[in-house]
Order: sequence, then C-alpha cells, then structure tokens
Amino acid sequence: MQLRVATDQPWDVRADVLVVPVLDEPVFDGPLGELDRRSSGELRALLEFGELQTKRYATALVASGDLPAGRLLAVGAGEAAKLDREAVVRIAASAERRLGGRTVTSLAVWLNPLAEVLEDGIEAVAELVARGVVEGTYDPQEIYRETVETAPPKIDELILVAPDADAGAVTRAAERGVIVGEGANIARTLSNRAANDVSPEVLADEATALANRHGLWIDVIDAQRAAEMGMGMFMAVGQGSDNRPRMIVMRSGGEGERDALDRHLAIVGKGVCFDSGGISIKPSDRMEEMKMDKTGACTVISAIATVARLSPGTPLLAVAPAVENMPGPHSTRPGDVVRALNGKMVDITNTDAEGRLILGDAMTYAERLGATHLVDVATLTGAVARAFGHLVTGAFGTPQPWYESVMEAANRSGEKYWQIPLVDDYVPEMESWYGDLINAGTPEGSLVKSGLFLREFRTVPWVHLDIGGSAYFRKAAPYAPRGATGVTHATLVELALAGAR
Ligand code: BES
Ligand code: MN
Ligand code: ZN
Repeated sequence: MQLRVATDQPWDVRADVLVVPVLDEPVFDGPLGELDRRSSGELRALLEFGELQTKRYATALVASGDLPAGRLLAVGAGEAAKLDREAVVRIAASAERRLGGRTVTSLAVWLNPLAEVLEDGIEAVAELVARGVVEGTYDPQEIYRETVETAPPKIDELILVAPDADAGAVTRAAERGVIVGEGANIARTLSNRAANDVSPEVLADEATALANRHGLWIDVIDAQRAAEMGMGMFMAVGQGSDNRPRMIVMRSGGEGERDALDRHLAIVGKGVCFDSGGISIKPSDRMEEMKMDKTGACTVISAIATVARLSPGTPLLAVAPAVENMPGPHSTRPGDVVRALNGKMVDITNTDAEGRLILGDAMTYAERLGATHLVDVATLTGAVARAFGHLVTGAFGTPQPWYESVMEAANRSGEKYWQIPLVDDYVPEMESWYGDLINAGTPEGSLVKSGLFLREFRTVPWVHLDIGGSAYFRKAAPYAPRGATGVTHATLVELALAGAR
C-alpha cells in the first residue's frame, strides 16, 4: 500500500472513495458546505433523509456529483466532545470495512474534521487513521480460504487529505501508523490460527521467522532444557500434551542493555496454544475459543518485531511461554505440588488456572535475563470478561508509578484499561497447606487473586494486563471482524518506544 499526503482541499482529491468523517451537528458553512455543494448537495440531502447519520461508526455511501472523487463515504464520528484516539482508529477501520466486497484501489480520508476536535493535532490523527485503515483491512476468514468475497478491499493507495499541513511530518506519522497496524494484524493472525495449525513448536518457528526478518536475537528453550533449568510450573502445564512446550525468548538491543529511561523492559505473553483445562477439564461449550488462549504470546512476539521496525536496537525483551494444556496420562493432576523457577512450592489445585503457572516462570526468567521492568499480557481469566466485557482490558500493577507509566503509553495508543486492586487481605486465601501457594482459590474475588498469584513471581516493577475479555470479539463490530482484536499491541509498542534513543 502506497501512502500519500494530499495538501489539496478534499474537493480537489481524486480517489475511488473519499471518506468524510461527520461529527454531531455538522456545520455546512465551512469546507463541509463546499464539499456538499460540489457533490450536488447530496451530503445534506441524505442527512435530512436520515440515510446519513452522525452516530459513531454509522456509514453511508454518497454520490459525488462533480467531485473528482468517485464516491463519498460518510462515517459518523459521534459527539465531538467524546472523540478520543481509539475512536479515530475505529472510524478509519469502519470506513475500510464498510467497503468490503467493493472495488476500491485508492482510498482518501479527509483528516481535518477529526483533527479539529482531537486535541493532539493533525499528525496524531494521520497516524491513528493510517493504523485504523490497515487494521480495517484485516479479515481472519482469509487465513484458511482462497477467496473471501466480502473481504475489505486491498488498497493500492491511501491518500490522507490534510489541506495546508506539513506533508513531511504528516507522512512520517502515517507511516508509523501503518507499521503499528500491520503489527497488530500479525498478532491477530497468529492468534486466530487453529490449534492444529499453531502448536508451541510452530509458534516458536513463527517467532524465529520474525526475529530473522527484523534482526532480533532469539532463543527457543525446549522441554528438556526448561526442565533442567527448573521451570517446574511451566513444565507442569506443558507435560500433558504430545505437542511439547517451548519457552520463546526474543531480544532487541544487547543483553541486559538499559534504554533511554534506564529500563530493561520485558514484555511477557501467555502462550497457551490450546486450553482444554487439563484434568480440571472445561465444559465443551465454547471450548473452541481456547485456541486463542495464546493471544498474549502472539502479541508480545509481534510487538517486539514492530519496535524493531520502528526503532531498531531499542532495548527490549519478549518472553512467550508456549504450551498446550491437555488431559492425558502425563498431565499434572489437581493436588500436584511443583517447584517454580524462583523456588516457591506451588500446589496446583486447579489445572485450568494454567496461565499464571507458565507466566510465573517466564517472569522469573525475564528477571534472570536482566529485566528491570515487567509487563505481562494474558487471556488469564473469564472473570475479567464478566466484569469489563470485550472493550476494556483489566490491569494490575505495582508500584503505582510504574502502573501510571504503562497507562501513559496506553493513552498514546488509544487503548482502554481499568485498574483492579491487589488486595493484600486476600493473600492468606492463596496460601497452601502443603507448599507456599495454591494456584486457584475460591471463586470470590478470583480476578484479584489471579493478580496476587502472579505478584509472587516478580521482584521488579510489574504490570499485568488481563485480556480475557478484550483479546477477541465473538461477533463483528463495525470496526473489527469476529476474532482476535490485536489489543495491547499498540500499548506495548508505545511503552517500549518511550525508551528509544
Ligand atoms: N484461558 C482461561 C481464561 C479465559 C476463559 C479467557 C474464557 C477467555 C475466555 C484461563 O486459563 C482459565 O481457565 N481461567 C480460569 C481460572 C480459574 C480456574 C481460577 C477461569 O477464569 O475460570
Ligand atoms: Mn485455563
Ligand atoms: Zn488459559
């Protein structure tokens, strides 16, 4: 896809389709009025008719009269006062998706209506719109099918219309947006792929291919080496499957190297290629969704590649423990007691609380490799989905200033989080009579307790992002298809790049 910034007025832009964001109470006396006049008054007429709505993500294809653009695509942007960065990404993605099945090779997006209300200005809007269009092209049905008739069109040229703007600066911002969007889509494809396709070994191969392409160091620790090293929690989950586990470790920059913020940041992602629950087997209802229990791993693997593309050499570590959680003669039983890599004795009361086991050893290992700051991403609980649904990611962290720095990156990315407290008073409920800890306590407060368990396996500042609800959509939204969303990818990239030199 070619990117071009047009500093012409939107009525002078030639493209198959020109996207026109329409905010609440559109005023037709400025440039929008001019565009309307030159489209023979179609915009106004369709608004009055009710075909064109300003409700967010509503779309209408509009005839373009004498304009050089073939058609106008009006996209509702909602209330101006409520426009945020996430909405800008999603408005652009909705436009691209609305054109599914249509023949469109050049797509123009008029940025000014959004830039006038989003406080961050035209360059931020260009980045977010470019990212949104790229994310909008994503269709998971293309993974296992030759042709998908309804797929969003493959755009040859994306034209960002920004009259009188600094074309160089807007282009650079948009290029960044394209790369972040592509990274999210790579994470989504890995995540959406089936468990018979992506085993821990295949996930490690995919990580190796990305590492080679982008000049990253990689180490794939196999089952034998992990057992010798003492990764008892990781092995307890992985030992039940014929598809042997892999601990995937990737690095940009030197070993233990500090970034511009004096951090050696590590991003750790849960990679359960299939979560049957193990011996504590899950009900069959919706069990097929558990192929996406590897989403955290897919996200950190793609995020470190994105960081390498945007700013090669930025110090960053990614650790992705990859396993399959299966019942079988070699599986861990409820009540088995194992030694974690950090020495703690863990009493596995529920083999379905497996994410925290593999993450615990992965975080210990990240610290051994020099990590000074940790962020983990995991489809850890169903409870977070019940609490926040699909549109908000649950977040934990300690100490609070580190949590706040991660949230600053989150704000730049536009992604939404809500903090869950680490309530010390629940710690006794996670203690084991046989060992140090149980991995699953009573259901009351189970979301808080999942965070308390993980907290035992790190000694440095740490944030935990629970994407159990936000990792994938069960049904399509205007701005995204059913399946993996790519959530947290942009946050992780922003966080790492804050330390780029
Ligand atoms: N992968 C699941 C959590 C999950 C469930 C994510 C549904 C997305 C949708 C996780 O491994 C799990 O099974 N968690 C248990 C924990 C419990 C046994 C303490 C849960 O949430 O029920
Ligand atoms: Mn589970
Ligand atoms: Zn799981």
